Amino acid sequence: MNIFSLSSISVIVALVSCHDPQVFLSVEQADGVALSCTELQSRLPDRVFFQHSVEYDRQQNSYWLYEQAHDYQPRCRIAALDASDVSVFIETVKKFNASFAVRSGGHSFLPGASNIDDGITLDLSGLNKIELSEDKKALFLQPGATWLDVYRVLERHNLSAVGGRSGSVGVGGYVLGGGSSYHSNRYGWSCDSALVYEILLANGSIVMASAAEHPDLFWALKGGGNNFGIVTGVRMATFQQGVLYIVIRSFSQPLTVVNRIFPALEKFTHIGHHDPDSSVFLSFAYTAATSTISSTLVLVNAAAEKMSPSFKLFDGLQAVQESRLTANTSTLVLLADQTSDFQYRKLKFTLTFQPVGELMRRILKTFESLTGSIAFEDAAGVYLTFQPLTASHISHDDNALGLSTAGPLMLLSLEIYWTRHEQSEFFHRFAKEVHNTMKKEAEDTGSLHRFVYLNYAAEWQDPFIGYGLENLCRLKEIQDKYDPDGIFSILQQGGKKINACHIQCT
Ligand SMILES: Cc1cc2nc3c(=O)[nH]c(=O)nc-3n(C[C@H](O)[C@H](O)[C@H](O)COP(=O)(O)OP(=O)(O)OC[C@H]3O[C@@H](n4cnc5c(N)ncnc54)[C@H](O)[C@@H]3O)c2cc1C
Ligand SMILES: *[C@@H]1O[C@H](CO)[C@@H](O)[C@H](O)[C@H]1NC(C)=O
Ligand SMILES: *[C@@H]1O[C@H](CO)[C@@H](O)[C@H](O)[C@H]1NC(C)=O
Ligand SMILES: *[C@@H]1O[C@H](CO)[C@@H](O)[C@H](O)[C@H]1NC(C)=O
Ligand SMILES: *[C@@H]1O[C@H](CO)[C@@H](O)[C@H](O)[C@H]1NC(C)=O
Repeated sequence: MNIFSLSSISVIVALVSCHDPQVFLSVEQADGVALSCTELQSRLPDRVFFQHSVEYDRQQNSYWLYEQAHDYQPRCRIAALDASDVSVFIETVKKFNASFAVRSGGHSFLPGASNIDDGITLDLSGLNKIELSEDKKALFLQPGATWLDVYRVLERHNLSAVGGRSGSVGVGGYVLGGGSSYHSNRYGWSCDSALVYEILLANGSIVMASAAEHPDLFWALKGGGNNFGIVTGVRMATFQQGVLYIVIRSFSQPLTVVNRIFPALEKFTHIGHHDPDSSVFLSFAYTAATSTISSTLVLVNAAAEKMSPSFKLFDGLQAVQESRLTANTSTLVLLADQTSDFQYRKLKFTLTFQPVGELMRRILKTFESLTGSIAFEDAAGVYLTFQPLTASHISHDDNALGLSTAGPLMLLSLEIYWTRHEQSEFFHRFAKEVHNTMKKEAEDTGSLHRFVYLNYAAEWQDPFIGYGLENLCRLKEIQDKYDPDGIFSILQQGGKKINACHIQCT
């Protein structure tokens, strides 16, 4: 069959999606945005908000990333309250070919992932129902719910779910990207706890995706991000949960601790699956104001055990400060929210490698020398975090992440916070240089893993290639089936795209 005998629209779509995702607005399309806002206003009165209104500003100011709040000004914002609002929205943007963005908790680190300049933003923060099933074994969550709200509901029943470690993170983006949690060592990624997704597809239908219905889509939604439709609900497994035990240790002179802490972290990553209630992460913070690096080790035991075998691995390190507390999940995630800083411009990148202590030590050295080598005119700080991915965390094979046979891994993330727009280009270039240096160090020691965690990926990183070619091709095939015209890859400009154009899929 001749390729040109296919409908012209799908040919155009296929070609466009192979090129730079940057799309220039045509005049017709700019009009399409205005026409969509007007039509939506008549079909969903009270749900459409324009610039210079109090509600529009309130929604704009609730993004985690300063860039998303200030550099992107949609023509109108639609506050959906139920799934039928979402289907009216999709019908309208399709009709007028208008560009759009979808936002749940607004906590993406990617500029333009959940907001859009000159298009339309669908804001799902009011689509935030939380319903426990009668038998309490499952929970129905709408995507705009925050994890704090979820934990508050569950705690009354001594239950919890695999969710975010900061209360303000939204259910939607978090679970679609995987979702790493204090409970992941026992239960896996948050998406591994998903039982059913309710999703609005490009053809306007709302369908259920589960192991029984549309299983291909169900698989793709476990790591596939915003590429398949708009998720209007997710049913998740719950589990019994009481209070947690938390130890937070700070070290002012990281060099005196690295000799012991990295081997301990390496060891935990390898044997942590034997102690599935425990989780650990280690962060280094470069504070520009003082040009110093401090480090923080966080140990959490979900069974409130004070002497878990994992904690013992980290005994005897001289801390300058140590807090120990027993708390419920909502208290813990509120604590994490206190360090949230909405006024900063930020970026984040990630790398994944084998948990080799010596490599982490080298990476910390690189962090020290590169942060120390430049004048941080207005940076608040640079943060390097190591997060073990134990075998039990990543062994589930029915998600798209492509990690089930990888063995234990170490997830690295690096964040930079600054204030002035003029500095943005510099920090983005700097971050790339740091990334390339650290990546090369992992490569040179044969320890680099292809995985790039979607929820931590920078603008210039491609998480889907990191899932492995087989999974990338499978995602592409499922996308072609459920969104043949590219509504969610072309009209929805932001977020991570599945780009399989340069790959030979069979
Ligand atoms: C303070 C903080 C703490 C964090 N803690 C953790 C953590 O503990 N573990 C972890 O794994 N990650 C964590 N993250 C990362 C977080 O998982 C991602 O930023 C995630 O994208 C946030 O989801 P959201 O709904 O709040 O974001 P949004 O910005 O609203 O959405 C993110 C992306 O998902 C898409 N999307 C959102 N909702 C839908 C939907 N209903 N249907 C289709 N697509 C949708 C959006 O289009 C966008 O591309 C944290 C981030 C922050 C800022
Ligand atoms: C629809 O919008 C897309 C993305 O902006 C654009 O590439 C395409 O040309 C538009 N199609 C029509 C028919 O205007
Ligand atoms: C969680 O802990 C906080 C602080 O101690 C407390 O106010 C709250 O009531 C607790 N929640 C539940 C459901 O017990
Ligand atoms: C939750 O657990 C606490 C402590 O074990 C107990 O006192 C309380 O009755 C439990 N609540 C419910 C609803 O089971
Ligand atoms: C839309 O696609 C889904 C999944 O392929 C299908 O079940 C549904 O019937 C379709 N709806 C329409 C209106 O064609």
